[in-house]
Amino acid sequence: MVNRSSDIVIFGAMGDLAQRKLIPALFQLDSAELLGQDTRIIGLARVTQDSPDFRKICSDSLSKHIKPAELDTDKVSRFLTKLEYAIVSFADLSSYQTLKSTLDSSAERARIFYYATPASLYGAISRNLTKSDCINTNSCVVLEKPIGHNLRSSNEVNDQVAEYFDESQIYRIDHYLGKETVQNLIALRFANPLFGSQWNQSHISHVEITVAEKVGIEGRWGYFDKAGQMRDMVQNHLLQLLCLTAMDPPDDLSADMIRNEKVKVLKALRPITAAMCNTHVVRGRYTKGMVEGNPVPGYMEEEGANPDSNTETFVSIKAEINNWRWAGVPFYLRTGKRLPEKLSQITIHFKPQPHFIFDESQRHLAQNKLIIRLQPEEGISLQILNKDHGLNQGMRLRSEALNLNFSQSFEKSRVPDAYERLLLKVIQGNQYLFVRRDEVEHAWLWCDQLMEHWKNENKAPLPYAAGSWGPKAADLMLIKDGNCWYEDQ
Ligand code: BG6
Repeated sequence: MVNRSSDIVIFGAMGDLAQRKLIPALFQLDSAELLGQDTRIIGLARVTQDSPDFRKICSDSLSKHIKPAELDTDKVSRFLTKLEYAIVSFADLSSYQTLKSTLDSSAERARIFYYATPASLYGAISRNLTKSDCINTNSCVVLEKPIGHNLRSSNEVNDQVAEYFDESQIYRIDHYLGKETVQNLIALRFANPLFGSQWNQSHISHVEITVAEKVGIEGRWGYFDKAGQMRDMVQNHLLQLLCLTAMDPPDDLSADMIRNEKVKVLKALRPITAAMCNTHVVRGRYTKGMVEGNPVPGYMEEEGANPDSNTETFVSIKAEINNWRWAGVPFYLRTGKRLPEKLSQITIHFKPQPHFIFDESQRHLAQNKLIIRLQPEEGISLQILNKDHGLNQGMRLRSEALNLNFSQSFEKSRVPDAYERLLLKVIQGNQYLFVRRDEVEHAWLWCDQLMEHWKNENKAPLPYAAGSWGPKAADLMLIKDGNCWYEDQ
């Protein structure tokens, strides 16, 4: 498929996101001949430099973030010729004239404006782009998270952008939606009758969604302390995973059909009341500990820490979805920084056989589990029960995994980074991997209610040692329901 040629304009082109993710992703797309032939990438920032300086910085970033085997010299040179730079002060209308004169004047050519800046600038950028006449009939904007801090502030930002752009021109990024296995959830659920028929409360007892990170705050204390794990990870990535796991089949694969189904799930989430905070939520914060054999400081000892902070670095929630498909099925969400490993996975626990004919001592084995691993090794594993081999074993059961490991099964193809897929979809004008405004609003609504209780309770988060799986209370929450996290089994 030949993609349309575009002017891709990156606001904040010297920042970490642009240099670590966007430029490498655009290079990979160009290498795969997926950028239209005369596509240009225009980096904008306030730094005084020219296009050759910018190309040099981007070339260094490619060397740093792309494997040497994928850095073909000719392809790098070709890519670098597509890069241009303009000095623009984002809040200052007069400086947009430089951008205007850099843009291709064709009215049809696609213009993609990527806001890799704090959301507080989204309104001003949208206004200035419009007032400086940089918008043509084929323009769209890409917004990075976090958009706001709660429902009210996210509405403010979305309203400001909506003054100048229609929802069909707005691409809100949640990079988890660009991950290969997240996409595969849709194929797995809706292309396989085997799973489609079982995917409900009659057959599934509970679902776990874990997004664990080994890293701590990584020098981002200032940002993170205002956000916390709930805003940084649950409001977006975990709720998106929950929606894709729980949604009803969309009528087709169009962006709005999929997004309509996700919104229905968000609307059906049972609000967590103050009384449920003790039984349905665990909020934690790491203290010093060991990660992979190395000592690491606690959150409050990290550089820049404010001693009055009450921010959480771990959240675990028993979420419930009030609809026919999921009545009575808990969705246990868990995410934290400084956990023992980097792991994102969804585990579907199927209900046991209603009548068990094997040895009673093996009853605890008798459940199928489907494990969908997003990272680090993307793959799918189905735990099934077999007879143990041997002449004299009787009918002993043994749980074995049917494994599909993507890196082995698709050996020849590189697993693309989420940003490659997302940028490609923007270029193709397909919004299905992007978050619609009502999704953002319903996600905030649910999270805001819970965070309001935290504010009123004013309790410190529970401590957990860095390198552990979070506060013990997160294990107890499941144990009380007769369940346990997958890695504890
Ligand atoms: C980002 C969060 O959205 O996702 C970070 O702001 C987090 O705090 C990151 O580390 C995790 O993404 P991934 O793709 O590494 O799991």
